[in-house]
Amino acid sequence: MRRIAFVNEKGGTCKTTLCVNTAAWIATQRGMRVLVADLDTQGHAGKALGVDVRGIFPTIRDVLVGESLSVRDVARPTAVPGLDLLPANKDLAGFPVEVAAFHDRADRLRRRLDDVPEGTWDAVLVDAPPSVSLVTENVLRAATEVVLPVGLTYLALDGCAEILASLEVLRRETGRAPEVTLVVPTLYRKTQLAGEILEKLRARFPDRLAAPLGFSVKIDEAQSHGRTIFEYAPRCSGALALAEIARAVWDRPAPALL
Ligand SMILES: Nc1ncnc2c1ncn2[C@@H]1O[C@H](COP(=O)(O)OP(=O)(O)OP(=O)(O)O)[C@@H](O)[C@H]1O
Ligand SMILES: [Mg+2]
Repeated sequence: MRRIAFVNEKGGTCKTTLCVNTAAWIATQRGMRVLVADLDTQGHAGKALGVDVRGIFPTIRDVLVGESLSVRDVARPTAVPGLDLLPANKDLAGFPVEVAAFHDRADRLRRRLDDVPEGTWDAVLVDAPPSVSLVTENVLRAATEVVLPVGLTYLALDGCAEILASLEVLRRETGRAPEVTLVVPTLYRKTQLAGEILEKLRARFPDRLAAPLGFSVKIDEAQSHGRTIFEYAPRCSGALALAEIARAVWDRPAPALL
């Protein structure tokens, strides 16, 4: 099972949009069984897939905090064939305190994914929260591949540098860290600043920079209707761009599972 995380400590960089739509594309266009694991108290991955996550039980919190419920017990089907969801909601907010005394508190997600029986899903795509937190640490320790969406704004490169620094610390401390397999420029508008940031990203990640994802009102609309872009407006430019990014994520050889 490939473990692909969508991470940026900065908020609003299109992590959830890319995670959910990439998962839907892999499920429908590659015929894979895919799990979206929402690790954000905002529950946006669920909402984007049309699941009302407010007040639902059990959630990812129950998988991570307790021992009795497995990932398979809590995952639920979505309207997209082949795509399941491990939902999150505000219940996850207490997680850092609830597991503070556990020696494996930063490895809870990794362990629970290790327990998933072979052949259940071909891939898990993890939607990370916009924070430096124990949850994000769990995500980075559980993933083998990281997709890094970078909003093309003035502070974009800062967020990018912080993730790379976190991965370097993790590599030093534990001897392993996921690979950043794709950097996706998002929120692209044809301005001089965006062009300059894009140039810097190209110099820094020459072999793993995706084509920029431009503004598309259809993408925003699709989320507000709880549908993927491929269900909502499959022929719009946003759908074509998201399909291209999904293809770039999936068609890259998976790094070895450590
Ligand atoms: N290409 C796009 N064009 C227009 N709107 C977009 C596009 N991509 C995402 N959005 C909208 O921007 C908002 C933020 O996107 P998204 O939720 O994917 O970001 P995020 O990084 O997951 O945010 P957070 O850090 O809060 O989790 C959403 O309302 C989404 O619908
Ligand atoms: Mg999000």
